[in-house]
Amino acid sequence: MLVAVLPGDGIGPEVTAEAVRVLKAICGDTLIFEEAPVGGAAYKVAGHPLPPETLDVAKRADAILFGAVGDPDCDRLERALRPEQAILGLRKELGLFANLRPAKLFPELVDASALRPEVARAIDLVIVRELTGDVYFGTPRGIRITEAGLREGYDTMRYDEAEVARIAKVGFETARARRGKLCSIDKANVLETSQLWRDVVIETAAAYPDVELSHMYVDNAAMQLVRNPGQFDVIVTGNLFGDILSDQASMCVGSIGMLPSASLDSAGKGLYEPIHGSAPDIAGQGKANPLATILSAAMMLRYSLRRPAEADRIEAAVAKALAAGARSPDLGGAMTTRGMGEAVLTEL
Ligand code: NAI
Ligand code: MG
Repeated sequence: MLVAVLPGDGIGPEVTAEAVRVLKAICGDTLIFEEAPVGGAAYKVAGHPLPPETLDVAKRADAILFGAVGDPDCDRLERALRPEQAILGLRKELGLFANLRPAKLFPELVDASALRPEVARAIDLVIVRELTGDVYFGTPRGIRITEAGLREGYDTMRYDEAEVARIAKVGFETARARRGKLCSIDKANVLETSQLWRDVVIETAAAYPDVELSHMYVDNAAMQLVRNPGQFDVIVTGNLFGDILSDQASMCVGSIGMLPSASLDSAGKGLYEPIHGSAPDIAGQGKANPLATILSAAMMLRYSLRRPAEADRIEAAVAKALAAGARSPDLGGAMTTRGMGEAVLTEL
């Protein structure tokens, strides 16, 4: 099977290198890796953050391992050429509409969580975030001059019922395979888009009588994630709310360097990446925690390559490495990126 490796910018290459080492150790030569530049790195060599050759490798591959994009050198480029457009372009081009972000506290990291230990221990949830719609893609958008002569920025929040039903189904299926609880998060008291969202989620629920459905406003959800995260099994939400809530959830499990993600199309092909960005503040210093990317590789084995036993082995090796004391600086230790990768390989 072919795995496209798109390391990207900043700490992206450092953390993907460790994940590839782990995949090679566990899968031998049953996986073929093809690497391609993306983001600022691609702009510098090819003049575009998502060059045709890179998109081609991503399309041919069975799964994609993605590091991160974002480069301060590119901040002044026009929007279409900025590194971040690469990940948005890949999601759109490959139809990756469902973003799965599990958040689970490894018991060894209770002290690193922002929450009280007894609250933190209960976290075991998955956020299912819609990824190709909402205010991030809606048009019209822009900056214009009003009649009063003021500059005005505007965006459009927009979902059609097919888009909502498609992601709601992923939420229900994910809940069915776990503890059977789905919480849909919206802002239906204020937003029309959210009212439609809620209606369609309720309609979709008819096919899932075995799943317990609840609804929550996003502001309350932000509070409940900190107050009592153990109440959640699966959360389904739109692109904007999901972006914010999943970063918040990361602090509940110790560090943003611990959270993996999968972005799936309707056939099971996926792009796998840590939820963090390119972290320019620590790039090139060997300080980045590679576990989020290694755990993303485990998700790749589970969802796209259909090798759940190997996925389990990687997750168990990460847990053992943490139990044995492996800690990068974000977890309060001093181990390097390479050292963290070695610690996982040792346990494998
Ligand atoms: P960030 O996630 O890159 O960094 C936030 C903070 O977390 C920083 O202090 C960083 O050092 C720390 N951090 C992140 N990953 C870490 C890891 N593995 N180990 C230890 N510490 C880690 O978010 P920020 O600073 O807002 O964005 C930086 C760049 O990344 C921007 O250009 C942004 O657009 C881009 N970005 C790209 C994403 C992607 O490729 N999917 C996602 C989020 C941001
Ligand atoms: Mg984010």
